[in-house]
Amino acid sequence: MTQVYGIILAAGKGTRMNSTKPKVLQILSDKTLLGHVLSQAHQLCSQVHVVYGFGGEQVKQTINDNSINWVEQTEQLGTGHAVAQAMPHINDDSISLVLYGDVPLIKQSTLNNLVTQAQKSGISLLSVILDNPTGYGRIIRDNNQIQAIVEQKDADKEQLAICEVNTGIMAVESGLLKTYLSGLDSNNAQGELYLTDIIEIAVNDGKTIASVITKNEFEVAGVNDKVQLAELERTFQKNQATKFMQQGLGLKDPARFDCRGTLNFGQDCEIDVNVVIEGDVSLGNNTTIAPNCVIRNTKVGDNVAILPNSVIEGAIIGNDASIGPFARIRPQANIGENAKIGNFVEVKKSTIGKGSKVSHLSYIGDSTIGAKVNIGAGVITCNYDGANKHQTTIEDGAFIGSDTQLIAPVTIGKNATIGAGSTITKDVPEDQLSLSRSKQTTLKNWQRPTKK
Ligand code: UD1
Ligand code: CA
Repeated sequence: MTQVYGIILAAGKGTRMNSTKPKVLQILSDKTLLGHVLSQAHQLCSQVHVVYGFGGEQVKQTINDNSINWVEQTEQLGTGHAVAQAMPHINDDSISLVLYGDVPLIKQSTLNNLVTQAQKSGISLLSVILDNPTGYGRIIRDNNQIQAIVEQKDADKEQLAICEVNTGIMAVESGLLKTYLSGLDSNNAQGELYLTDIIEIAVNDGKTIASVITKNEFEVAGVNDKVQLAELERTFQKNQATKFMQQGLGLKDPARFDCRGTLNFGQDCEIDVNVVIEGDVSLGNNTTIAPNCVIRNTKVGDNVAILPNSVIEGAIIGNDASIGPFARIRPQANIGENAKIGNFVEVKKSTIGKGSKVSHLSYIGDSTIGAKVNIGAGVITCNYDGANKHQTTIEDGAFIGSDTQLIAPVTIGKNATIGAGSTITKDVPEDQLSLSRSKQTTLKNWQRPTKK
C-alpha cells in the first residue's frame, strides 16, 4: 500500500470568530475543530503534517499530539504556499491528502475514496454542488473532465454561474504535487500562490483529474464564525441522534438532545428533552432520563429512572435505582441496586448500598452506607474539618433521623436508630436508639417582643 500523508492547513487566524483562540481551536461537540480533522486523518494517514501560523504555541499545546509534524507558515502567502511548507517532509512515492483544520465534518469514506482515486490517476479532487456558489473556487469542466479551478475573484461572468465548487480537499501523488507546486505563480486577483492552480498544471501535464463529488455539503463546510460553528454543531448532533435512534434509543426530541462524547445504551432506553451527555456514558436496558439532566462519565444500570434536573458526574448507578429530581451525584459515587436518591441530595465519593434511601435535602460525602439504610430529610455527613476529609460509615439497616449531623470520622452500627435532630460525634452501637438532643423546655411567662 502506498503511504498516505495528511497535510492539514491551519494557519488562518479566524478573525471573524472574535475570539482569543485560533479558529481551529474552537470547540465542536467534545473536540476542537482541528481535533475532528485529526481524528479522521490519523485513521488513514501514516503521518500528519499540520501547517500552522497564528497562535502556533496555543494550537500545539491544546492539541498535544506528539505524532504530528508541526510545520510553520510564517506568512500566509496562499494555500499553495501553505502546502509547499510541508512537502520537504514527504516522500515522493506517497500520496498527499490536503485537508483543512476548519472543515471538521469530513467523512472517512470520502477520504478513502479520494485516496483510492489518486492512486489510480495521480490526482483527485473533492467538489460539491451548491445552490449559492458565491465565494468559492469554480470547477471548470470540458467534456465533463475537470480542466481548472477559477477563484471567485478571478472568474468571469460565465464562470461565476457555475455551481460546482472546489472544497479544497484533494489527494495527489506527492512527487507530482512537488513538481506542480514549484510551477505556481501569484499572477491572480489576490496575489497569492493558489493551490487550486495545480489542477490546470496537472491537466497540461496530461493527467486526468479524478473527480469525487460529495452530496453532503456539511461534510465540506468550513467554519468562519460562530454562526457557522453553531450550524455545524447542530448538524453533528442531528446526525448522531439519528444514528442512536436507528440503534434503538428513544429520544423525545432529537433536536433537544446533545451528546458530547460517547454514549452506549441497551434496549428500550428513553431520553426526554434537554439532556446533555458528556464524556463516556453508558446506559443499561430500560433506563429513562427525564428532562434537563446532565450526565458525564457515568455508568448507569438497567431500569434506572433519572428524574428531572439531575446532574451526575463520574458515578456508577446500579440497576433499578432512582435518582432525583434535582439530585447532584458527584465523582466516585456508587449508588447501589434499587437505591433511591431524592430531591436536593448531593452524593460525593460515597457508596450507597442496595435498597437504601436518601430521599430529601442531604449531603453524603466520603461515606460508606450499607443496605436498607434510611437517611432522613436534611441529614448531613460533616466530612470536612477545615483541613482534612473524614469517613462516615453507616451499617446495614440503620435509620438516621431527620436533620442529623454525622461528624466524621464516625460509624453507625447495624440497625441502629438515630433520633431526629442529633449531632453525632461518637460511634453509635448496633440495634439501639442513640440521640443527642437538648431537653425541650417551655418558658412560662415569656412574651413576644413588641414594636417600640
Ligand atoms: C479556498 C480555495 C477555493 C475553495 C475554498 C473552499 C484556494 C486558492 N482557493 O478558498 O477554491 O472553494 O477554499 O473553502 O485554495 N490557509 C493557510 N495558509 C495560507 C492560506 C490559507 O493555512 O497561506 C488556510 C486557511 O487558514 C484556510 C484554508 O487554508 O483554512 C483556505 O484558505 P482561504 O484563504 O480561506 O481560501 P478560500 O479563499 O476560502
Ligand atoms: Ca475559506
